[in-house]
Amino acid sequence: MSRGVLQGVGLVRRYGGLTAVDHVDLVAPPGMITGLIGPNGAGKSTLFSLLTGVEQPDEGQVLLGTTDISRMRPDIRSRRGLVQTFQVPSLFPTLTVADNLLVGAENRRRDYAGGLLGLSAQGRGRVGRTLAGLLERTGLAPKGPVDQVVEEVLASLGLSDIRDTVAGTLPTGALRLVEFARALCAQPDVLLLDEPASGLDNAETAKLAQLLRQTAARGVGILIVDHDVDLVFSVVDQVYAMVGGKVVASGDPQTVRDDPTVRSVYLAQAPLAAAGQAQEKS
Ligand SMILES: Nc1ncnc2c1ncn2[C@@H]1O[C@H](COP(=O)(O)OP(=O)(O)OP(=O)(O)O)[C@@H](O)[C@H]1O
Ligand SMILES: [Mg+2]
Repeated sequence: MSRGVLQGVGLVRRYGGLTAVDHVDLVAPPGMITGLIGPNGAGKSTLFSLLTGVEQPDEGQVLLGTTDISRMRPDIRSRRGLVQTFQVPSLFPTLTVADNLLVGAENRRRDYAGGLLGLSAQGRGRVGRTLAGLLERTGLAPKGPVDQVVEEVLASLGLSDIRDTVAGTLPTGALRLVEFARALCAQPDVLLLDEPASGLDNAETAKLAQLLRQTAARGVGILIVDHDVDLVFSVVDQVYAMVGGKVVASGDPQTVRDDPTVRSVYLAQAPLAAAGQAQEKS
């Protein structure tokens, strides 16, 4: 399996007698947007946590490329290119937008520097920062100076105007975009997005959809969990539907939307029922 493919293989997570994730196989390939849907309690967040490293599986593996990352901490996974955004944006409120983005870029840079010396991922944080500064001065830093990465991301997301604004003063919509921008500055191979559209108005959601497509087109693999099923179905290349901890359908959006189990269990819920009716009328 090539670099940048995120894979869950036979994942199981139990809480006492309850199997929240029940033998789930999932592949999120580079350059594609993969969606994860399911009713409340289906196991989406638990599966997401197994992929990010917040939780560890009782059975099965999480692979990034050919590497088994099942037991790695979230921050180590992030330095290896598996970057997540949080349901509640986790920015530094007293820092400017640009400085928040610099933090995102910094992690990846010092990891590169540490890697050159053959340091373990854990050792890189401590030593890497100094090395990274050194590398930059000698012109050996990866993919151009960090500042340049930040400016490119600011420009591509239309955030240059607020680069010097203190993050804590921004409204929700802008905060979510900045959170997304910070994740991009880490130059991810795979981006995991938990409810990225929550708190966004229609115009902001449309902009997010456009940014997701733009990001995937650059080769990044994206996995998105969101209650906004219209967003999920409109933006994904493939989707997994979970019910009771199991994947009950997967494939392209139309196939999953038409799947009898998905229709009976999931589409009965209000948001999708409305979407289904709208589609049937047209
Ligand atoms: N830490 C935990 N301890 C015990 N049970 C848990 C824990 N986390 C989740 N569960 C249970 O596991 C099942 C799956 O929960 P999960 O949060 O993954 O579902 P979900 O699909 O994300 O639901 P929602 O759409 O409501 O966010 C639920 O029955 C939930 O109550
Ligand atoms: Mg959840």
